[in-house]
Amino acid sequence: MDQRPIGVFDSGMGGLTALRVLRRILPGEDLIYFGDTGRVPYGSRGRDTILRYARQDVAFLRSFDLKAVVVACGTVSANALAELTVENDLPFFGVVTPAARAAVERTRNGAIGLIGTAASIRSGAYEREIGALDPGARVFAAPCPLFVPLVENGRFRAEDPVVNLVAEDYLAPLREAGVDTLVLGCTHYPLLSEAIGKVMGPEVALVDSGATCADQAARSLAEQGLLAQREQGSCRFFVSDSTEDFARLASIFLGGGVDGPVERVEIQKYGK
Ligand code: DGL
Repeated sequence: MDQRPIGVFDSGMGGLTALRVLRRILPGEDLIYFGDTGRVPYGSRGRDTILRYARQDVAFLRSFDLKAVVVACGTVSANALAELTVENDLPFFGVVTPAARAAVERTRNGAIGLIGTAASIRSGAYEREIGALDPGARVFAAPCPLFVPLVENGRFRAEDPVVNLVAEDYLAPLREAGVDTLVLGCTHYPLLSEAIGKVMGPEVALVDSGATCADQAARSLAEQGLLAQREQGSCRFFVSDSTEDFARLASIFLGGGVDGPVERVEIQKYGK
């Protein structure tokens, strides 16, 4: 048993989709969420910047006595997880490995689609993981840079014509390639599931990378005897930009109100 909190971070709001799953499957855990809302997006930046930002995010989270960190950001997981894991003496869970595993388990025809930010796709991290699990699998990847700003502006509904147009443009090549499984390699994308499903068709399985990461973290902590023992855990939220904007948008990602304090952090003060 370990009563210490789990740290969860993302470049912004998207990681709240993973937090939501964590809270559902591990209701007794205390969670500390950091969203780098002042510096989002990470997905259009170079690897060095992503790594520098991620180190600062972790330095802030480690100002708490944590038992584990969930990297609920596709871009950080794909570009910086190895370094973060080596530099820190506590378990780190990223989204790439569990999502790759889920995709390999679900595909029937070995044709796996992958969508994410430009930096996630460029990293090649999913291809490496999927290739290691199933050398015969073929990965068809497409960066979808407009999806994040659409979601951040509340434009994610399947009946929204702008969302449909953008989704059709990004996803038609993957549909035509015949993928039967599509990895949503960015934690914003679960909000677009319905719109994405409409373009891909009902026979294509969608893999929510944040949810698979939350599942893996829960399983691993349980196996190591590190779960907390309390009825109801708490949640604290920290952001690097306006707390009012966060509270307004966060409820969309959480599927309910923000039921914990929201505080602002000067993230530049942390780390190097
Ligand atoms: N959170 C990022 C991800 O999951 C998307 C937003 C960004 O570009 O920072 O890849």
